Amino acid sequence: MRKIILAAALAIPTAALAADPVEDTIKARQGFYKLLGANMGVLAGMAKGEIDYDSAAAQTAADNMGTLTMYNVGHLYMPGTSNADSDKTRALPKIWEDFPGVQEKGGAFVDAVKAMQAVAGAGKDQMAAALGPLGGTCKACHDNYRAK
Ligand code: HEC
Repeated sequence: MRKIILAAALAIPTAALAADPVEDTIKARQGFYKLLGANMGVLAGMAKGEIDYDSAAAQTAADNMGTLTMYNVGHLYMPGTSNADSDKTRALPKIWEDFPGVQEKGGAFVDAVKAMQAVAGAGKDQMAAALGPLGGTCKACHDNYRAK
């Protein structure tokens, strides 16, 4: 009897520590996109004049996004992590049914980030001109593969 109780008591902290792979993957995925969003926010703020344009800071934000494009996001799209599996995510099941389509949107996004990296530090107007097309590639993926 004592042994069983002990085993049950020990099971509690173990269960509390055990990672939930679905929730953890969703959180990591959202964290990845939050990083993108945070750097986009710097550039958008400068383009709108809410933040003073700063060449070095703009280049850093663009380069951070460039670094993120090199991150292999495959594991963040673990099967069983769509919004049909969990109410904590907006990732549509369509992603897993249409990887080529997602990759196409991802490719356009990577190209737009490269274009931004080439001009972000060159001046506010050049940066702002690249921002619309870049934002368009975010939206194109969201419109197709993310729930509203
Ligand atoms: C190839 C597809 C794709 C591209 C390109 C893309 N996103 Fe997303 N984004 C997603 C998906 C899918 C989600 C939903 C993630 C979830 O809820 O699990 C998401 C979620 C987000 C979120 C919300 C994160 C959260 O806290 O839940 C932000 C912010 C975001 N994206 C910003 C951006 C920005 C900014 C860009 C472009 C610079 C971008 N995304 C490009 C697919 C994409």
